[in-house]
Order: sequence, then C-alpha cells, then structure tokens
Amino acid sequence: MNNKKSGGASSVPFEIEATERVEALLKRLSLEEKIGQLNQVGGAEFAPGPKAEDQIRKGGAGSVLWLNETKRFNELQKIAVEESPSGIPLLFALDVIHGYRTIFPVPLAMASSWDPAVPEKSQTIAAKEARAAGLHWTFGPMLDIARDARWGRIVEGAGEDPYLGVVMAAAQVRGFQGDDFSDHERLLACAKHFAGYGYSEGGRDYDPVNLSETQLRNIVLPPFEAAVKAGVATFMSAYMDLNNVPASGNRWLLRQVLRKEWGFDGFVVSDAFAVANMVIQGHAHDRRDAALRGIKAGLNMDMSSYTYTEGVAALVEEGLLTEAEIDELVRPILALKVKMGLFENPYVEEGLLEKVIALPEHRATSRWAAQRSMALLRNEGRLLPLSKEVQNVAVIGPLADSMEATEGSWMVFGHKPAAVTVLQGIRAKLPDAQVTFASGPEIRRDIPSWFEDMMAGATPKPIQTPEESEAAFQTALETARSADLVVMVLGETDLMAGEAASRASLDLPGRQEELLKAVAALGKPVVLVLLNGRPLSVNWAAENIPAILEAWEPGTEGGHAVADILFGDVNPGGKLPVSFPRKGSHAPLYYARNLTHSPEGSPMYNPRYWDGLPVPLYPFGYGLSYTTFEFSNLRVSQPQVKVRDSVTVNVDVTNTGSMVGDEVVQLYIHQKWGTDTRPMRELKGFERITLQPEETKTVTFQLGPDELGYWSTNAAGWIQDAAFFDIWVGADSLASLYTDFEVVK
Ligand code: BGC
Repeated sequence: MNNKKSGGASSVPFEIEATERVEALLKRLSLEEKIGQLNQVGGAEFAPGPKAEDQIRKGGAGSVLWLNETKRFNELQKIAVEESPSGIPLLFALDVIHGYRTIFPVPLAMASSWDPAVPEKSQTIAAKEARAAGLHWTFGPMLDIARDARWGRIVEGAGEDPYLGVVMAAAQVRGFQGDDFSDHERLLACAKHFAGYGYSEGGRDYDPVNLSETQLRNIVLPPFEAAVKAGVATFMSAYMDLNNVPASGNRWLLRQVLRKEWGFDGFVVSDAFAVANMVIQGHAHDRRDAALRGIKAGLNMDMSSYTYTEGVAALVEEGLLTEAEIDELVRPILALKVKMGLFENPYVEEGLLEKVIALPEHRATSRWAAQRSMALLRNEGRLLPLSKEVQNVAVIGPLADSMEATEGSWMVFGHKPAAVTVLQGIRAKLPDAQVTFASGPEIRRDIPSWFEDMMAGATPKPIQTPEESEAAFQTALETARSADLVVMVLGETDLMAGEAASRASLDLPGRQEELLKAVAALGKPVVLVLLNGRPLSVNWAAENIPAILEAWEPGTEGGHAVADILFGDVNPGGKLPVSFPRKGSHAPLYYARNLTHSPEGSPMYNPRYWDGLPVPLYPFGYGLSYTTFEFSNLRVSQPQVKVRDSVTVNVDVTNTGSMVGDEVVQLYIHQKWGTDTRPMRELKGFERITLQPEETKTVTFQLGPDELGYWSTNAAGWIQDAAFFDIWVGADSLASLYTDFEVVK
C-alpha cells in the first residue's frame, strides 16, 4: 500500500505512523467492536439483518453497501463517529463498474479498445463522481477471464485473454485508485471475483467451477496478480465452489496465493452473503461453522450475511479462534481507513456531486472512450463511412432509442438513464435530414431478471401481445421502406447480460433477425449497429448485411460515438476481446486452445462437430478500419536466446489507405514442444497505433521470461523451457506474418 501525500518524500514515515495508529486503535477496541469492523451491512431495503443505524450505533459495522444517497452517508457516518463506542468511521461501498453519473462503455467494451488509457481515464472520472457523492470504495474491477459467451457476466470483464486481462486490470486499478489513498477524488478498488467465477459450468451463473491449478495459474489468476502489483486495496472472494471448496472459505486462494505468494496487504470482502452460503454449499455445517471457516481462510469482511457478528465472539470464547486471529483480519481494514484520512475527514460535502458531474471533460471522455471501444465487423463495398448528405434515414430497432441499452448493465443504485441514444446521435449529426424511427417488436427475457425488481424506477412494461408485436413489425418495415438508408440497432437489453443473465443461445433475441431480414429484402443500404454485452451469433447478418458495427453498451455518449463512426468523423479501431461463436452450443470458444490434431484446412481450428464447424464467426482480436494496413518485415533480434534472456521482435506497419486510422498490432507466440503442451497461439504483446496515410511505424515487442515462462503441470511450478517458438504478428488472432526463434539452455 502506498500513500504519497501524507508520507511526504518517502512513504515510510507514513507507513510507520499508520501502523502505530492501527495498533493503538486495536488496543482500545473490545472484541465485539473488532468483529464489527469485519461486518459490512446493507443499507438497502432488501438487505437482511438489523436496521443499518442500529447496527452502526452499537459498533457492529465497518462498512455499508447498497446505499447511494449523500445525505444518508453523512447521517450514518455521524452515528458511527459520534455515537458508536469506538467512533471509527465507516467505509461506504457500491458497485461503480463503468461510471457513476457519467456512464462509460461497459468493461468488455473498454477492453475492446485495446488501449489501457480508456479504462484508466474512464475509471478516474467514475471515481471522482462517486467520491463526490460520498462513496469510498467500488466493487470493481471484475477480473474474471470469460471464455463462455453464455455467461452473462462476460460483460463486466476484459474478455477471454489473460494478457489483455492483465493490461486492463492494472489500468482499471490505476484509474479508480490513483497512487494515493488519501486523494479525495479516488475510490478504493476491489479485484473480484477471486477466483474462477468466469468458468462456471455451462456458463450458468453461480454454478460450481472445476479448474486445474495449471489453468488457474496461467489463465485465471494473472489479472488478479496484476491488480496486486498495481496496488489494489481490496479483493472480493467469489460465490462459487472452486474445485469443491467455496472461494470464500478457500485458504489456498486467500492465504497461500494472495497473501503469501503475492504479498497482498489489503483486505478481502466476501461476495454478497457468500459466508453464510457455505452452509448451503455443504461446506459448513451451520452459520457459526461458516464464520469459523471464513476467518480461518483469511476472509476479512462478511458482506451482509451477519455470520461474523453472530458467531465469532463465541468462537473466541470457546477457544476455537484467538483474538490475535481477529486482530490480523481487522488490521488492514483499519489501516486503509487511516491511510484514506477517513478519521480526519469522515464526511462528504453535500452538493459537491452536482459541481463535479458538470465538468465538461466527463462527457467528452465518455464519448472518446466509446469511439475507441467500437469494432467494425463488416464493411462490404465500403458502405461506411456514410455521407452526411443523406436526406432520409430510418433508424430501426428496439434498442435504437433505448437509454438503458445504450448505458448497459450495472448501473449504480437509483441511477436514472440519461444516455444519448443512437437515434439521438444520428439526429444530432444530420440536423437537416429527415431521420425517422420505429422500434419494431419488443424484446425481453423469457425469464425476468431479479434485478428488475431491485432497480429503482424500473417499472415493468406490459408484455406486447402477438398482435401488437406484428403491428410494430409492420410499422418498422413501412418506416424503412420510405427511407434512403436504414440503420438497424439490434442486440440485447441491459438486463440480458450481467449478473443472473446467462443464456443458452447467442442469437439475437426476439424477432430482431426476422425484422432485419425483412428490412434487408427492401433492397436499401442497411447498416447494423449492435448494442450488446456479450458476443452474439449474428451469422445471417455477417453474410448479408454489408456494414456491421459492434458498439457494445457504449455509455452516456454512446449515440454520438456511433454517429461519429457511421458518418466518418472517427475511424473505428477497436478489436474484439472475445471470440464470437456461431452458436451458443459452441461455447466455451476461445483462440488459445492446445493443438490435438494437425490443423487441416484452417491453420487455427479443426472441425469437431458434424453439424457445423466450431470456428468463430469473428475471431479474437478482430476489427476493421476505414483504411487499410500492411504488416511487413517481421524480424527477431537473434535466432537463438538463452533461457531467461529476452528477444526483441520488430514489425513495420504501414497505412496503405487514404484515411488516418488506428491499428492494434498484435503478437502471438506458440511454443512448439515442452515440459507441458502449450496453446497453439497466445497473445504476448500488443500496441494500438495511429498512422497517417502512407505512414509506416516500427512496432517493437520484447519476449522474455515473463512472456515465455508458464506454470507447468509436470513440473508443478513456474518454468521456462528450451524450445522452438512460432511468432505471428498481425491485426487479429489469425495473423499470418510469421517468424520463429529458439530458446536454448
Ligand atoms: C455480485 C458482486 C457485487 C455484489 C455487491 C453480488 O451479487 O456478485 O459482483 O459486487 O453483489 O453488490
């Protein structure tokens, strides 16, 4: 942990001072008060347990979550500081995942920028707004690698790849936290969900996870370790079983890996109710046993299940736990409160938020982030960019004017959607044209989300009857018929991805594809804009609709960003952070598989199903531009290097088109043999560059032990083999420009 400001030139004196203050506090706290610090109480109606103020008043709370009201933060803080026996201030926590009032693209979209400045700048602003509202701590970033597009929470992470995941993890932590815990414009970050949640069986949310240590070490854990290196203050343990041990009671994860191997010195909060859940999971025999298992595993804070406050004191009295074990878990919580300056400044200035959200750079950054996140998937006959001279545009689809779908999943409590929709963005771009709109038939989940009830202000709309749906379909078709150009805005609503939002199919929900086909049959130029939080199997569109823009869930300025790209003010440069399967049953689908057969036909994939090849519709790393790029002159600094030495790889990239544009230069390796078998391709370097027409840049990568080493099953540890390596560099994971080198002993 660091703290520049209070530490002056060196952070050491402050560290010592903080430690002394924490020890002094511990000396004067009763056992109950210490246990109180380990308890996080829910401030919302639905939260179980006693009323938040009662719990706080008796010193039984270290933190409050599920509350988003400045005045109330100050009220509760006053109770903690002035009325509770210890007077220790509370930490207010909430999920601020991609923006507080100004909404940024969802994390999957931010990863699609392949530019760490996008998450870093976005989360800096998210932190500033949330902090001005009175929050101290966000439950983000979510660092779960997700290779199964059916899993709804894929939207909250950086996609399928550990290398990209590491870069995005560090950037998000830097953005939320900065480098100074006492900065009043930052939030504490929380690396979640530790660990393996993205691998729930069948992509079914919350289901158990079975993963080898080798997969954990090589794929799942690296973004978490990167978060520790970036100074992340807190971790959240996951809900589910990891290899038959619930993550929240998993000593190996929380003590061995996180603290011992990585040296993490912050604290760990459970996921919601996860401590008590160990009883349901069949790990603990009752709530008291669950508390014991949580404490023994090193889980500092119980999120709202009250198992610690209920059971821990008795466990100490009976000698099953020592007070020293409790002190050990309380210490990092108090240390963070001290380092944040919470004791000196426990309150938030009411009215500050309104001043902060009015800052023009917030919306400007959101628009920039959205522009950089979008990926152009198809552009046959160079339909895009469109001319601004167009007179009559129809904007069609259930998401075209949906502020909710534009902002995407995971809004903070009580948030009122206020995004610029695609319809509004196009209208603003074409002030003199006629821009008509029809939504077409509604789309909705077959089984509603429990979030619908929880979200303030979400009044469920009555379900469309088949007749109403047909009428909406015909209106949309008529609207399209009278236009010169049609922009279809299709995909998934905000609640179709996210928590409790897994699905078996990856098709466009509802009658969207049917409408797309009917509109395409009119013979007009059609552009498809996708708003979605997971890969979708848009197979028909990929063959039949000339222009497709993956806009994801782009946030407050999303509609402007889409219009900027469609009408050529911005040249798209985003790349997919996940493979797009052709159907849900092909999931999990990812590029970094191990080879099992000679890859006939395709250099990457081998047919495995007789009813359709499980090759991706769009590969990992894919995305087009309005200009063209050529890669040449791929060279390694030397054909042979010794184990633990580094090799330099250079490649020249030229903009061969007529428009300035961005390319993400991607480097993939393949270790040809070794102690273990290795993936047929692995991303080990990338850089997003901007090139003027005809400009050439040389991009340089280093490959050393960090890139070439791996966790080996056979060696049961980290190793680097002497072996031959293939290298490909290019614009996506199918890159074909090739060279190789050898690592020798
Ligand atoms: C989610 C976490 C979230 C927590 C607090 C849980 O349901 O899994 O990601 O941070 O709730 O809202």
